Amino acid sequence: MKKRLWLIMWAALVIVAVGAWSGVAMAQEGGEVRSLRGAVPLEGADQAPEMARWMPDSHGLPRNYLQQPPLIPHHIEGYKIDLRQNKCMTCHSWSKAKETHATKISLTHFRNRFGTELSDVSPQRYFCTQCHVPQKDAKPLVDNSFKPVDSVM
Ligand code: HEC
Ligand code: HEC
Repeated sequence: MKKRLWLIMWAALVIVAVGAWSGVAMAQEGGEVRSLRGAVPLEGADQAPEMARWMPDSHGLPRNYLQQPPLIPHHIEGYKIDLRQNKCMTCHSWSKAKETHATKISLTHFRNRFGTELSDVSPQRYFCTQCHVPQKDAKPLVDNSFKPVDSVM
């Protein structure tokens, strides 16, 4: 029992020490939070920076790795997904895909988390934009040196 108490005290001490050390490190860096927006002030700016445009619609964008949710090759402005409606499914569902020429949702999208195959899109795949994103011609906020493997090129 005593041994356990000592252990807890030591753990508490280590946590406090690490906390204090990181506080010092932050103060040395000037303690400033650097935002991705950069040095653009929020107040006083008379004009918001121009918004990037949606990339023009295309026939699908290249995938970078297996299992990547394909990027959306069209704009989705105003496309609602909520309890009552799912705009994406008005084109991408299996029943509509033929007339809309949209890609049918993947077979994997009918499987629920217990592995049961459902007759319609699974609740865990309902909010499409959780995984699929449209593209804008904007400068990346963070540099990225990721290279796709040859097998998907
Ligand atoms: C008005 C019909 C329509 C709606 C609504 C629509 N799409 Fe599409 N989508 C298409 C068509 C058509 C294509 C195929 C483009 C092509 O390959 O020529 C496509 C392509 C895609 C692709 C690329 C598939 C691939 O294999 O590369 C994804 C992902 C996608 N859409 C997701 C969405 C999502 C998510 C929504 C809702 C936010 C949505 N779409 C709403 C018509 C639609
Ligand atoms: C949890 C993440 C996730 C959600 C949510 C999701 N998808 Fe996907 N989607 C993927 C992944 C990963 C792939 C590629 C692998 C596969 O086919 O499962 C994919 C593939 C696709 C494809 C290409 C199918 C093909 O044959 O190439 C379409 C179209 C698509 N999804 C549309 C949708 C639509 C529409 C919704 C909303 C109803 C949606 N997805 C929701 C992850 C997701």
